Amino acid sequence: MRNLFTNPRRLPLVAPSILSADFARMGEECATVLSPVAGGGAVVDEGAADLLHLDVMDGHFVPNLTMGPDMCRALRRAFPAAFLDVHLMVTDPLPHARAFAAAGASHVTFHVEAVPENLLGETAAKIRELGVTVGLAINPPTAIDRALDYLEAFDLFLVMSVNPGYSGQAFIPEVLEKTRALSAEALPSQRIQMDGGIGPGNIAAVLDAGCDVVVAASAVFGRPPAERANVIRALRGR
Ligand code: DX5
Ligand code: ZN
Repeated sequence: MRNLFTNPRRLPLVAPSILSADFARMGEECATVLSPVAGGGAVVDEGAADLLHLDVMDGHFVPNLTMGPDMCRALRRAFPAAFLDVHLMVTDPLPHARAFAAAGASHVTFHVEAVPENLLGETAAKIRELGVTVGLAINPPTAIDRALDYLEAFDLFLVMSVNPGYSGQAFIPEVLEKTRALSAEALPSQRIQMDGGIGPGNIAAVLDAGCDVVVAASAVFGRPPAERANVIRALRGR
């Protein structure tokens, strides 16, 4: 399947996580980071986000509860051309993936820790059948062996650089080595995403390790709207 992840027009992609946006003003907040030409035209705005990252937590896989498919549906309606990247931090990903795909998600990532090994490939294939690309997320303490065993089943690997649950946590540098190893094995159409504790101060190390999709919540939405384009430019590493 061809989409922004499998066929990007530039790398790295910058993915603000709406978890740190003001939930009472979600539409306006997303508009501050998205380009008015998002999804079309020849103009590539270095200060605009490439996509929106939606952090979905179920209060079970992680203690926090965040957002459901209705948020995705509302964003799809407000931003028809936006690429919506859904990061499921949930215990039972498949039914949630179905609900988010129906709500307009472009991509769904689920956690390797949430699915028994013998169901990993099948879960990925079932999510792809929904018309979205599929990613596998790996928590900081988890080894990448299983990801490597199922390499071709996924369009993206998400290396978590914090233990999931909350935005604003400190980056765990030990995951850079894993990122490097995964990046060396990944196919040209596959993306390596990192998520957690990333900002202008450590972006050089993150990109150097092979990350090509940068997620940032507090580094982007924790800044006033007028400063966000500069943060996004900095997250491109240039
Ligand atoms: C971790 C989430 C991340 C998180 C990132 O629980 O998956 O997307 O919100 O937040 P920052 O960038 O603030 O660490
Ligand atoms: Zn995330």
